[in-house]
Amino acid sequence: MNDRQTYNITETQRDDRDNWFHPWEGMANAGTALRTVITKAEGIYVFDEQNRRLIDGPGGMWCMQIGYGRKDMAQTIYDQVIEMPYMNPFSLTSSPTAQLAGKLAELAPGDLNHVFFTTCGSTAVDTALRLVHFYNNVKGRPNKKHIISRDDAYHGSTYLCALVTGKDRDKNWFDVASPLVHFLSSVNPSKRPKEQSLAAFCDAKVNELEQKILQLGADNVGAFIAEPIQASGGVIVPPDGYYKRCWEICRKHDVLFIADEVVTAFGRLGHFFASKDVFGVEPDMITCAKGLTSGYLPMGALLVSDRIFKEISGPNARGSSFGHGYTYSGHPVCSAAALKSIAIIEQEKILDHVREIGPYFQKRLQELRDIALVADVRGMGLVGCVECTVGALGEASLEFDTDLGARIDAHCHELGLMVRPIVNKCVFSPPLIITREQIDTMVDILKESIIRTMHDIQHELGIELV
Ligand SMILES: Cc1ncc(COP(=O)(O)O)c(C=O)c1O
Repeated sequence: MNDRQTYNITETQRDDRDNWFHPWEGMANAGTALRTVITKAEGIYVFDEQNRRLIDGPGGMWCMQIGYGRKDMAQTIYDQVIEMPYMNPFSLTSSPTAQLAGKLAELAPGDLNHVFFTTCGSTAVDTALRLVHFYNNVKGRPNKKHIISRDDAYHGSTYLCALVTGKDRDKNWFDVASPLVHFLSSVNPSKRPKEQSLAAFCDAKVNELEQKILQLGADNVGAFIAEPIQASGGVIVPPDGYYKRCWEICRKHDVLFIADEVVTAFGRLGHFFASKDVFGVEPDMITCAKGLTSGYLPMGALLVSDRIFKEISGPNARGSSFGHGYTYSGHPVCSAAALKSIAIIEQEKILDHVREIGPYFQKRLQELRDIALVADVRGMGLVGCVECTVGALGEASLEFDTDLGARIDAHCHELGLMVRPIVNKCVFSPPLIITREQIDTMVDILKESIIRTMHDIQHELGIELV
């Protein structure tokens, strides 16, 4: 292989096609397509191989909080690499990681004062689920192991996380059935029957959780895991009060409540953690990753309550040790990056900015409802989803819906915007530093691209333009 200076775009695309087995690879075309190469990034923009500047609509993968190209972040990472790039987290400690643990405990709601560091969101969720089982074993409750999750949930890609993921598309072709995992129906309000009020829908969903706990027997249920907003499931915002009422049901039945904040933590909804500040919930555990380092380096964390920690440690430990962890748990360079990202968010008042700009972003997205192809627009803070369907044109066709997001994304790309297409949905979680004017540009490009896609399809179907 050539060195980096002489390794050109053609070689990149060739080696990518021939040798890089990507996540979520569509296997029918695997090893054939030439992918877009991202060559550099600055602020809210990424640049492709033709040096085309694109607004990064999905903010990497819901992780780019402070924006690309921060030299102060680079300096922090460099300094830590020079000073001490690695230490064994099983038996030693280091200042950046200890300091980060303290900082996360300070920012977290309630008594979540114990931080288990992981390498990403999946390993944070894995750790949470293993801890539920460990906790109940140590407490002498070997039956209290069942986990309740929900349809449309995404909790990661390790074997254990995939077990609690409720998206068929992420599980098809894998063996992920487990007698210990149970799914509740989707909390997507737009899918409720027309005659059902939002309040009645919320009551039904909360009741479903309680019924499931009673059906399994509270003595057998270890935990309920839920994202405050189901992100990869299509930005599903549950009805008001739903999340808090679920937490109350869990407390009533002594079921641990795991808030999966891998997407919602670190500012996406205008707060470091959304559980308490947005939804009024003090979970037993919070999982986070992504925005923890603003995507600059890989890192995740599980925050655990004092209560849980106390119940399984000291005289309550019964000789146990928590035999779980990673070579890169609490990596000092990632920890330094996380501390720096949090400091930037605080110093530059980025949370205030998100709280100010979020409603404007949502308002502008809602304008897209006027386009016939658009079936639903939803979101909160700086996360949003525009769901489209050809059915809205009076010509229901699943075949078209399957790649609607990709079609819209292709037009957006021409016009300077990158979208996260998920089947028939376009999902957005732009860098938190995005300005009002940049939101305008983003939504204008999206609007034009949806209209162009609609016209393409109308042309292909041979039906009248709306
Ligand atoms: C809510 C949620 N949990 C867990 C994960 C898994 O995180 P990672 O991809 O860092 O393993 C994701 C990833 O998108 C996520 O959205």
